[in-house]
Amino acid sequence: MPNSSTLSVPACTDTPRHLAIIMDGNGRWATKRFLPRTAGHMRGVQAVRRVVEACGRRGVEYLTLFAFSSENWRRPKEEVSLLMRLFMQTLEKQVGKLEEQGVRLRIVGDLSPFEPRLQALIRAAEERTAHNSTLNLTIAANYGGRWDILQAMRKLLAAQPGLASQPDAIDEAQLAQYLSMAYAPEPDLFIRTGGEQRISNFLIWQLAYTELYFSDDYWPDFGAKNIDAAFEWYRTRERRFGRTSAQVASQT
Ligand code: IPE
Ligand code: IPE
Ligand code: MG
Repeated sequence: MPNSSTLSVPACTDTPRHLAIIMDGNGRWATKRFLPRTAGHMRGVQAVRRVVEACGRRGVEYLTLFAFSSENWRRPKEEVSLLMRLFMQTLEKQVGKLEEQGVRLRIVGDLSPFEPRLQALIRAAEERTAHNSTLNLTIAANYGGRWDILQAMRKLLAAQPGLASQPDAIDEAQLAQYLSMAYAPEPDLFIRTGGEQRISNFLIWQLAYTELYFSDDYWPDFGAKNIDAAFEWYRTRERRFGRTSAQVASQT
């Protein structure tokens, strides 16, 4: 599998090919302004638009945004239903714009608990943008990294039932081809806004060798300038993938 950082050393470019973001801090952004948390989520949608545009302009090939985790169902019922409504509205309103910008949209996660109308909107948006290739935008919705690994294992065993009695024959590459983002290289850069420094069950398999950047800014305040700051920091990183500094220096 060409995309695995543990099997081969990927080429590194000045701009990350794949940027993955945990968009955090919507609630605190709103609370600080004495607004309901939902106001923060609504403002967060504007930040998504800014960041998609900035990434497109900077030549990012894959942008993956964590919108709703498999653990976010634990939130108050009203907040979950606002998030679902916002997701639907945004899909309805923004797909035309994505289409104009040459963005291909994919949604990853366990979509089965979503209401049928949302599932239909997701399918329609994916189909409508399927021919685009400027920027591959993935929204992770009801996504969990552990769920992803488990569903990949189930799919692998369903496709090759004989492997169940030969577990030693299963390798990384075989499993990885069933992960929900098998179409993308692993993220080069991960950003989490909102000040927390944790992965919160995002792309746990794929982040094995990703550079991790944490910003104290709340997601609704995030935009092109913050993306530039993160990319500048990324350029200062020496991505060794297990090798020594001298080895990295001598390869160029
Ligand atoms: C991220 O912002 C958006 C979602 C998880 C849907 P939060 O809602 O987690 O905001 P904080 O962390 O409570 O400030
Ligand atoms: C992670 O944010 C999920 C998304 C941004 C969608 P959370 O705010 O839910 O993460 P925790 O619970 O603080 O780790
Ligand atoms: Mg949060």
